[in-house]
Amino acid sequence: MPLLEVEDVVVRFGGVTAVNNATFTAEERRITGLIGPNGAGKTTCFNVITGLQRPTQGTVRFDGRNVTRMPVHRRSHRGMARTFQRLEAFGSLTVHDNVRVALDIAGGLRGVWRSQSAEADRLLERVGIADYAGERADAIPTGTARLLELARCLAGDPRLLLLDEPSSGLDEHETDAFGELLLALAGEGRAILMVEHDMDLVMTVCDDIHVLDFGEIICSGSPAEVRSDERVQRAYLGQSDEQDTRTDLAAFDATTVLPAVGVS
Ligand SMILES: Nc1ncnc2c1ncn2[C@@H]1O[C@H](COP(=O)(O)OP(=O)(O)O)[C@@H](O)[C@H]1O
Ligand SMILES: [Mg+2]
Repeated sequence: MPLLEVEDVVVRFGGVTAVNNATFTAEERRITGLIGPNGAGKTTCFNVITGLQRPTQGTVRFDGRNVTRMPVHRRSHRGMARTFQRLEAFGSLTVHDNVRVALDIAGGLRGVWRSQSAEADRLLERVGIADYAGERADAIPTGTARLLELARCLAGDPRLLLLDEPSSGLDEHETDAFGELLLALAGEGRAILMVEHDMDLVMTVCDDIHVLDFGEIICSGSPAEVRSDERVQRAYLGQSDEQDTRTDLAAFDATTVLPAVGVS
């Protein structure tokens, strides 16, 4: 049984259907990609999974249990953690203290109260930003701040990690290291669900990929299956009949997406 099951989820904001009958899963020990053009509904799916957004319809199951109406903090206590597309660290604290606060919160939830300074150092080392430990979180580069978010997530030792555009701001070398880290985290038994625009990274590390377009899952499969799917290519290339409504999509990460979908 997949750790996370999203079933028939619909989210409407007034007249806008942001997510339309989306059904997909994420499994332990696997990296699952959730990709799609801007505005496709990816972040809204994350909000539904984590409990920030109540769906108009549909079910979210975590570890076999229906959590659709469970509050955010209880889902987090059960092992869900996420990073945000917009960064959420405490700007006036150091990088090290940001992780320590996350560890204190996670420890407090379990009734553990002791200094976790060494554990904070270990997590910073693990995500590769130990050099920034003493810097204020609002003074570090965006890519580093994303890794800090990941370290804060890991403080809770989550079973499911939801990452919203984690590699933006990382250079090529950092992205490679980040891919290795994701593989290691999945290898520990965690399920990783990742929204990501860097198609090289997605195609390299993901075991399974779901493609959202206008709120609908138009394709689910392995990287090879997704890459060769005609609907996926149309969604990214804007070559469908609705082309004129998709001017936005043409600009969407064309440089990284086009080679990745194998169209020149
Ligand atoms: N709180 C909201 N109120 C109204 N419309 C929203 C809200 N959040 C998202 N949307 C709309 O829902 C659609 C999907 O948005 P989003 O999930 O952020 O897409 P993505 O993350 O794939 O870029 C977009 O059309 C967006 O404008
Ligand atoms: Mg988004």
